[in-house]
Amino acid sequence: MDREKQIESFQRKIKRVLITQEEIQEAVQKAGQEISDSYDGNPILLVSILKGAYVFLADLSRAITVPSEIGFMCAKSYYSGTVSTGAVKITMDLDQDVSKYHVVIVEDIIDTGRTLNDVVNLLKARNPLSLKVVTLLDKPSRRMVDFEADKALFTIPDHFVIGYGLDCGEYYRNLPYIAEYDEGAE
Ligand code: IMP
Ligand code: MG
Repeated sequence: MDREKQIESFQRKIKRVLITQEEIQEAVQKAGQEISDSYDGNPILLVSILKGAYVFLADLSRAITVPSEIGFMCAKSYYSGTVSTGAVKITMDLDQDVSKYHVVIVEDIIDTGRTLNDVVNLLKARNPLSLKVVTLLDKPSRRMVDFEADKALFTIPDHFVIGYGLDCGEYYRNLPYIAEYDEGAE
């Protein structure tokens, strides 16, 4: 396939926009305000799960007005194409001692719930001052374990989505909106 055809095929797989840039920004500002209000000036540690949550974290952290630190973890849920295989592995751990912090986990999407269930259990065992989970997207219809976020900005149907940090095969993370991915498009 020549370069031009490759780019056309890349574009065609962006089936339709599900959540616009403006809708995301509005919801993120509101969530940042609510988080700031609920911690009453106490310092918080925003824990982001790489890579998918990096865009959400960048925007959410700038909408938070209480003193906050940022920490990163890398958790990989293994996918075969767009289907989860169920294995979760922590490939990079936090460098902060969470027992000194009110922790807010910032996630891109909760799908089967396995990734966050594992990460939350791991962090709880380290006795944080408190622990909450905020996710940009929630796909409740796909849940395999009993797990709910404290806050979900958008609930979406069972579509594989891309953009605003979420990828398919590492592409599309830089789209400023959330779109449905068209697996069938050539
Ligand atoms: P879970 O363990 O099944 O909840 O999977 C969560 C992780 O799978 C997310 O952090 C994403 O990285 C990835 N994931 C789940 N659904 C999607 C999707 O629709 N698009 C892109 N990545 C997804
Ligand atoms: Mg992720």
